[in-house]
Amino acid sequence: MTDVGDPIVLLRRVRNVRSFRAEPVPETAVEDLLEVARWTGSARNQQPWDFVVVRDRAVLRSLAAIAPNLAWMADAPLALVPVLAGKNAETETFDEGRLSERVMVAAGARGLGAGIGWFLPGAPREAARGLLGVPEGRVVRTVVAIGFEANDGPPRAERPPGAAAQARRPLAEMVHVDHFGRRPD
Ligand SMILES: Cc1cc2nc3c(=O)[nH]c(=O)nc-3n(C[C@H](O)[C@H](O)[C@H](O)COP(=O)(O)O)c2cc1C
Repeated sequence: MTDVGDPIVLLRRVRNVRSFRAEPVPETAVEDLLEVARWTGSARNQQPWDFVVVRDRAVLRSLAAIAPNLAWMADAPLALVPVLAGKNAETETFDEGRLSERVMVAAGARGLGAGIGWFLPGAPREAARGLLGVPEGRVVRTVVAIGFEANDGPPRAERPPGAAAQARRPLAEMVHVDHFGRRPD
């Protein structure tokens, strides 16, 4: 599998990938991602999740058709949908974020790209739950699309400034020392 070298570089390169090649995701990589998901820490180690692995093209297209913010996912070779227990909104939302981000990082470690999409509250979220046959009361909010990135350019973190969507606020705006509002020298 791809050698990604320095883990800090790997982390800095994680981006929401929205364009995929048709090539399937190797089964060994899927197993790796699921193991990473399984070992993600959760509040009180409740592990409040199941995972739906979606490979069926028709289901992927239907998920993508739920709302415009998901349209790019139609041609992804695979998606992983965490299904939350629906018992504790606050901790489960945090747990789900950790899980989703880890899967994205693990995908990067295997030379794959991954992109998060959200089923927004209300009709989109209900549509996703219905499509995947998830029982009422369980929460389906996030989908992580996974595949080999279609864009063969340099890793996004290394692209020249100007790719505005990639921009981040400077640390000087975010970092405080000892007290909020006290800036580094
Ligand atoms: C909680 C969450 C929900 C997101 N939902 C969507 C989404 O529905 N559709 C989408 O295209 N991107 C979605 N994104 C991706 C963000 O738009 C993306 O991470 C952000 O614009 C920064 O871009 P980058 O990660 O590629 O650097 C979501 C990200 C997060 C963390």
